[in-house]
Amino acid sequence: MIKIAPSILSADFAKLGAEVEDIRLGGADYVHFDVMDGRFVPNISIGIPVLKSLRRATEMFIDAHLMILEPIRYAEAFCRAGADLVNFHVESDSRENILSAINVTKSLGKKAGVTLKPGTQAEAVLPFLEKVDLVLVMTVEPGFGGQSFMSEMLPKISAIREYIEKHKPGCELEVDGGIDASTAALVKAAGANVLVAGSAVFRADDRARAIREIRNA
Ligand code: DX5
Ligand code: ZN
Repeated sequence: MIKIAPSILSADFAKLGAEVEDIRLGGADYVHFDVMDGRFVPNISIGIPVLKSLRRATEMFIDAHLMILEPIRYAEAFCRAGADLVNFHVESDSRENILSAINVTKSLGKKAGVTLKPGTQAEAVLPFLEKVDLVLVMTVEPGFGGQSFMSEMLPKISAIREYIEKHKPGCELEVDGGIDASTAALVKAAGANVLVAGSAVFRADDRARAIREIRNA
């Protein structure tokens, strides 16, 4: 089943509750919540207080994408603030600390994911795959919305789909960056089943239609 996860990075933060209700009514499956620290990526976005408020405003599944250094420091806080799934970049700390962050997340009853930047090889998921519920493949350099999809990532998506079928059937495969109705068809064919879309949904005149077109691409 294909799931659509609009990224609120492209939403109007002054009316975030209404923006999220709009995509829920439009048929979105997850809310994608991008956290940036100005160190791991060259931008700063939103964090724990905003997540707490959003948790009170919606029952939607919140998929938190942590683009921060040493995320083990904050794994418990993001779980307690209301994330349903927390994504950790494999490049953001040692293998041991990423495994600890996954363990903390799972012990708090939440789902955990690992995320790969464009320059990171598919094999980098293997030490984590049996412990996670989702793998997120970045199809742009993380940090900003509205960038162009990197088609060079398609072989990596296919390779990770093969690893998932072999080692962790049922694990979700998410893609993030430059997804719209035309690139959606490519990532789906490569094996992705959760599609993040920021500008293609929130900047659309008709968001329900944008979600439908990405899902059915
Ligand atoms: C980028 C973020 C993305 C971003 C996607 O670092 O992780 O989630 O919001 O935006 P679009 O869909 O506009 O590329
Ligand atoms: Zn993201």
